[in-house]
Amino acid sequence: MNIVVFGAGYVGLSTASCFAEMGNKVSCVDIDNNKIKKLKKGQMPLYEPGLEAFIKRNVKAQRLSFTTDSKKAIEESELIFCAVGTPPQKDYQPDTEQVEQVAKDVGRYMNGYKIFIIKSTVPVGTTQECKIIIQKELSKRKVGHEFDIAFNPEFLRQGEALNDTLNPNRIIIGVEGERSKKLLSKLYYPIVRTGKPLMFTDVRSAEITKYAANAFLSTKISFINELAHLCEKIGGNIQDVAKGIGLDPRIGCQFLKAGIGYGGSCLKKDIQALIHHAKKHKHEFKLLQAVEDINERQKTVLVDKLLSYIPTLENRKIALWGLTFKPKTDDMRDAPSLQIIEQLKMHKADIHVYDPIRKDVPDVVHSVDSLGAAKDADALMILTEWDEFKSVDLKKLKAAMKGNLILDGRNIYDKKAVRKEGFNYIGIGIK
Ligand SMILES: NC(=O)c1ccc[n+]([C@@H]2O[C@H](COP(=O)([O-])OP(=O)(O)OC[C@H]3O[C@@H](n4cnc5c(N)ncnc54)[C@H](O)[C@@H]3O)[C@@H](O)[C@H]2O)c1
Repeated sequence: MNIVVFGAGYVGLSTASCFAEMGNKVSCVDIDNNKIKKLKKGQMPLYEPGLEAFIKRNVKAQRLSFTTDSKKAIEESELIFCAVGTPPQKDYQPDTEQVEQVAKDVGRYMNGYKIFIIKSTVPVGTTQECKIIIQKELSKRKVGHEFDIAFNPEFLRQGEALNDTLNPNRIIIGVEGERSKKLLSKLYYPIVRTGKPLMFTDVRSAEITKYAANAFLSTKISFINELAHLCEKIGGNIQDVAKGIGLDPRIGCQFLKAGIGYGGSCLKKDIQALIHHAKKHKHEFKLLQAVEDINERQKTVLVDKLLSYIPTLENRKIALWGLTFKPKTDDMRDAPSLQIIEQLKMHKADIHVYDPIRKDVPDVVHSVDSLGAAKDADALMILTEWDEFKSVDLKKLKAAMKGNLILDGRNIYDKKAVRKEGFNYIGIGIK
């Protein structure tokens, strides 16, 4: 099938390259000329494991191309996917301007039947608003091309994006009619034939499902973080408690890791959007407000713990391992590390950081490796659970550091093994 994907970001590039991998002819459009230039040269504008090889293979096979020419791309495609950004505004409401701009382009340039499919996470009702935008543009042109709209929520996890796109646990599509249902079933057949469920709903239900999924995942994280606090007060180990409840299949073990809170471009934005939607309809979504409040507090607990051991941080060397909001991505959007760095700066700490990918956070000293950042440090804080931190040589770490305090914001170590090496090891919700 001929497909255009608008947006060459985390979602757009994964979507475009996976559709190409499935044998479709895909063009990926972005308004960022530099990004497109880079992609044409085979350079990646972002880090996602496996993406570079995937893109190169499909470009070579002439199934995937990159362009800023939205007119040509729309004219040549039957399926138009929209994976542009919906960044949070000041009040954290998603800004849908980029999505509306793509809808306008679709109305301006369509030359026959098309389906406009939104993958960006949008406020409920946006897909139908885009239908009106497209219709208006067609009326201006005085042409009556037929088209359908659909909402196909994206559930990929950064760091696992390609596998999640090709092996999703479900595909959900909100549609309005049989024609689009038939074409989208054909598109996803290579995945569905492997046993993955494809579920069609109405458009609004699909839009709500995306928000509901992220709201529920965030609720699990805040729940376990709240319980971690309780464990610290009354005794108990949160990891055992999490396993103990997670083994119940009604609960499940995933997203039950106590830590320094969720970050990234999606969870906070999506929860805030759902809270806002509820408010607009005179419903106070108290549960989600609590989830957010707990998460905001959670981002500060590690520095509070640090201050309880080292009350004055001025000129004390603090090493940070990990900056990105999760491992296997370069994404710093809403990363807890940013808030922690701000707190440490307020206390005038001497901050040395190491992240396997990010080397560009301002006003801190970046080291080339983890031990380099930890050299002569009074304390080490672990902020992202990159694999390479899990197997660090603890003896070398002990020899490199000046102090012996490890504050593990992700509970990556076996506390007994670390304490045996002489560290004062403090995790989240563990004694
Ligand atoms: N990142 C994730 O893990 C994830 C997961 C699920 C859903 N989502 C949702 O998917 C959407 C995209 O997220 P992302 O992280 O890929 O964003 P991103 O910021 O990485 O990429 C968005 C891209 O869209 C481009 N763009 C903006 N306006 C355009 C236009 N008019 N035409 C063509 N390109 C345009 C931008 O230049 C940018 O390259 C968001 O709504 C997000 O909430 C993201």
